[in-house]
Amino acid sequence: MADLAKANKYQKENRIDKREKPIFHVTPPVGWMNDPNGFSIFQGKIHLFYQYHPYRDVWGPMHWGHCISEDFIRWKELPPAMAPDMDYDAAGCFSGSAIETEEGHALLYTGVMEKERTDGTKEIVQQQCLAIGDGITYEKVSINPVISFGQLPDGFSREDFRDPKVWREKETYYLAAGNINGQGNGQVILFESEDLREWRYVSVLADNQGKYGRMWECPDFFPLGQKDVLVVSPQDMQADETEFHNGNQAVALIGVYDRKQYRLLEEQVISLDYGTDFYAPQTVETEDGRRVMIAWMQSWDMNIKPAGQKWCGMMTIPRQLELRDNTLYQKPVKELEKYRRDPVVYTGREISGTCMLPDIRGRILDLTVELLEGDFREFTVSFAANEKFHTSFRYIRDTQTIEFDRTYCGMVRDAVCQRKMKIKKVERTLKLRFLLDRFSVELFVNDGAQAFTSTFYTPLEAEDIIFQCDKKAMINVEKYTILLDGEEGEDLCERI
Ligand code: FRU
Repeated sequence: MADLAKANKYQKENRIDKREKPIFHVTPPVGWMNDPNGFSIFQGKIHLFYQYHPYRDVWGPMHWGHCISEDFIRWKELPPAMAPDMDYDAAGCFSGSAIETEEGHALLYTGVMEKERTDGTKEIVQQQCLAIGDGITYEKVSINPVISFGQLPDGFSREDFRDPKVWREKETYYLAAGNINGQGNGQVILFESEDLREWRYVSVLADNQGKYGRMWECPDFFPLGQKDVLVVSPQDMQADETEFHNGNQAVALIGVYDRKQYRLLEEQVISLDYGTDFYAPQTVETEDGRRVMIAWMQSWDMNIKPAGQKWCGMMTIPRQLELRDNTLYQKPVKELEKYRRDPVVYTGREISGTCMLPDIRGRILDLTVELLEGDFREFTVSFAANEKFHTSFRYIRDTQTIEFDRTYCGMVRDAVCQRKMKIKKVERTLKLRFLLDRFSVELFVNDGAQAFTSTFYTPLEAEDIIFQCDKKAMINVEKYTILLDGEEGEDLCERI
């Protein structure tokens, strides 16, 4: 069993130099990070927890790492909130969520344990647990697990029963968890409670009907515009040319919540991001009513980083979600704009052949390229480039596709280094907004109608940005550097 004080001490003593990391994306202080957990507002501050293994740069016994922010961009590191230190979570404190209550900040998470069957063989079981805290330290309640595997209807898997997302409607708390049914299909199941301790099984909120992968991990459920959205992260997805790729993927089921049957009547199922590195997203509703999503900017299928780098895993930029004309838009939270510096703007610039533009370079930036007109058929933007390296997005006009290619980014173990995206909402001009933060790119197409997220661990000296066009294109360019003045304090870590 792992010890929380030991993890905190290790984190303090082995914290990695910030100059080796991205500047406005959350990364682990040291070691490994996967899913965002407990993304919530508590006492007016934004809290983000995450799956955390401080001791190594690979997945291991899961702790909950923790940080807070006032604006989604500048984060303050806190001591880890939980370690797998009880019988019922000895095999890991897996993903979950958080909610502000009268008693404090409540964390609902999955306790994983190994259990002996009556015949002496062992099995893994997953159960839902509760911890309550003051925003810095958390205590697991004595009656854990609060939802045991014994409460599952017959045939539902007790080994795949995880990642609770909690919310409140009037006096009732609801909790949605990922699970597998008797036919081996992924589903999200719903529970209800008045006090977060005693839970009743309610319904199957949605299931994959054999279509969207197998196990559904990390559910989130919320109203958006006139609809309801269920976000899940299926494992083992089958590729579908225009929408889905093989393997792990984050999808959104958009429809209407039937409150009599407690079931989502889905109308469309879409990919949340078309890139190589986006998984297990979770959302929070801000005090001013925005729905903001953050995800793990990596994937189980793309577990790659340079040898020697002592941290692994990043979060995406928090993205505001909106549903308009049946399209789910996502755009970086507006708070990012106050960290934009040194604007460089080109209006109606003609591009033909291969070229660079003065002052358009760098690895930490917010860059928008708008393709206005021209007789071109292909237009490419490459970044993190020098004579040896580059990563690129190529727009192919005839097919309205964008092809991503990081073959030459420097990651020699990267077998899946290309991916295509079909532009679903073709507009008069094509607007491409790129967020670069040293080792990642997040592309927002046409004001966020589609997003494409990928990592690339190219040496930092490669910082050119190159435009290529087969004929002529007219473009507008707007570029900012992102700068976080001052250092994030680490003072709160001393409180434990
Ligand atoms: C998703 C996931 C979750 C689980 C966690 C374990 O990436 O597999 O289902 O709770 O990671 O770290």
